[in-house]
Amino acid sequence: MRLPLFTTISLLAFGTGLAFADADPRTLRTYKAKCAACHGDDGKGATEQGKKMGMGDLSTAAWQKEFTDDKIKAAINDGFKRDKNGKHQEMESFKDKLRPEQIDAMVAYVRSLAK
Ligand code: HEC
Repeated sequence: MRLPLFTTISLLAFGTGLAFADADPRTLRTYKAKCAACHGDDGKGATEQGKKMGMGDLSTAAWQKEFTDDKIKAAINDGFKRDKNGKHQEMESFKDKLRPEQIDAMVAYVRSLAK
């Protein structure tokens, strides 16, 4: 059964004991509009774009440990173009597209993707 995203997120938040204050509908909408095409709703990157770019899984414990809030924020603010494991990866800069508080909400959202 496919649960609505909201339910899934509440369940995730409940499951990990997170106080999930930032999953308001606007944050979800922003993530879906700007990020999910590549990263997927769940951050696992199992999208067409994600496969092309050798996308990692943002929800694993290892990823969540490696990426500090500062690193996550820098990636969203500045974007990048690079080659990793023989694949070209590209993410645009969102500095001029999202307000600072929206960027902070995206950082919190990425954190909330933890399994
Ligand atoms: C055009 C596709 C695309 C879009 C849209 C996109 N990303 Fe990414 N993002 C990538 C790729 C590719 C990577 C590298 C993944 C890897 O190496 O495993 C990445 C990596 C990241 C990282 C980790 C930084 C790093 O150096 O690996 C974060 C955090 C992130 N994205 C958050 C976001 C957020 C939040 C949004 C929406 C505001 C977003 N991304 C939109 C393609 C995208």
